[in-house]
Amino acid sequence: MALEIRPITGEEFVAYNNIDSAAFGTPVDTPEIEARRPIFEFERSLAAFADGEMVGSAGAYTFELTLPGGTTLSVPGVTWVAVLPTYRRRGILTAMMRRQLDDFRERGEAVAVLTASESLIYSRFGYGMATSQVWYEIDRRHAAFRAPFTPAEQEGRVRLITHERAIDVYTTFYDRWRRTQPGAVGRGRAYWEFFLRNPLAPVDGSGGRLYLMYESAAGAAEGIAHYRKKNTWEDGAPSGVVTVRDLLTTTRDAYTGLWRYLLTLDLVRTVQAPARPPDEPLRWMLADSRRLRTTRVVDDLWARILDVPAALTARRYLTTGRLVFEISDGFRAETAGRYALDASAAGAECARTDAGADLALDIADLGAAYLGGVRFTTLARAGRVRELRPGALRRADALFASDPEPWCGTSF
Ligand SMILES: CC(C)(COP(=O)(O)OP(=O)(O)OC[C@H]1O[C@@H](n2cnc3c(N)ncnc32)[C@H](O)[C@@H]1OP(=O)(O)O)[C@@H](O)C(=O)NCCC(=O)NCCS
Repeated sequence: MALEIRPITGEEFVAYNNIDSAAFGTPVDTPEIEARRPIFEFERSLAAFADGEMVGSAGAYTFELTLPGGTTLSVPGVTWVAVLPTYRRRGILTAMMRRQLDDFRERGEAVAVLTASESLIYSRFGYGMATSQVWYEIDRRHAAFRAPFTPAEQEGRVRLITHERAIDVYTTFYDRWRRTQPGAVGRGRAYWEFFLRNPLAPVDGSGGRLYLMYESAAGAAEGIAHYRKKNTWEDGAPSGVVTVRDLLTTTRDAYTGLWRYLLTLDLVRTVQAPARPPDEPLRWMLADSRRLRTTRVVDDLWARILDVPAALTARRYLTTGRLVFEISDGFRAETAGRYALDASAAGAECARTDAGADLALDIADLGAAYLGGVRFTTLARAGRVRELRPGALRRADALFASDPEPWCGTSF
């Protein structure tokens, strides 16, 4: 099988989409394919051709990733990864990943990120689970806030807004919010237009989308959320289900106000909140906290470090300290080696070194710990990190911790 890997042209976009459709088993129509074009980055696209036939796809969006300490880093967000079911398990994905990581390095990119369809696929290419997401569900009848809470505490208000207004408000608000959240990636206006397309199309039996914003007394947006509602009745009693997405806030008032709205809706029995951050305050606001059920805890953002010094000096650290890492990298030997990190809240220096190492780990595990989403101690207990000098794990945990905990919340 002769394999060629290259970017696609505009004319090849439909064929490229058809690879994705076949691999995911979800064919789409031409308007849907055309809706994807404005956010597609052709120069970053890769298609694999086997004996001249297009059989595989991989692409990337250019994102700004927020790092602990509030700095940002331009990263490729890997997407569109698919191989035709008739060509799977012949090494086509592996060949595309190799080429793609080479391309990222040539562009000078230090870290690549992705959200995965399956957690089995990407660690072999050096990606580590950098952030987690938590899925919640609550019976609205048991969702009262603990006392004391009165609406009078709040000065702002929840507003229902139109689809068009939501695109405007969300684009601006989100850009402010994501800079406060390590692990978040930028979403421009084109992304919001794409992401919120087909607002009235039913999804899993739910109706169209409704849009919320939380407005301060002075008229500023302090929070957003959108939701869909499935109206059902059981023995004549309402048993509707609300699914909320993108509940994002910059003030406590907005956080309380939006949850209060969602947890007091009429005709609703169940409120579902998929893909939430790991440090959700809601549990601590409820009178009957056990009613907030965690239905899933899974990987969120994966990170692949390509340039250790550039990646580690881009973020900020909670404490001051020095660590020497012995890094292995089975997929890109050029990243492997020993690196010394001298870090503080103000910044960091990192370079290759001959000094004795404190910790030994794989590049995927450095990616996992990079944003502070997992402690080195936890990775060591899982047999993934080796402590070569006593006390190094604790020092690494303290250095790399992130406040708030990292979370992406964007699936791409
Ligand atoms: C996932 C997918 C792209 C893999 O492509 P592929 O060309 O079959 O992958 P490769 O042949 O290069 O596989 C490389 C290795 O990864 C393993 N692997 C690949 N996909 C895997 C999966 N989904 N589950 C478990 N292992 C997987 C292979 O077994 C192989 O292991 P080996 O080196 O030990 O033999 C393809 O199966 C696909 O399109 N799946 C559906 C769409 C999808 O999930 N895309 C990913 C979006 S994030």
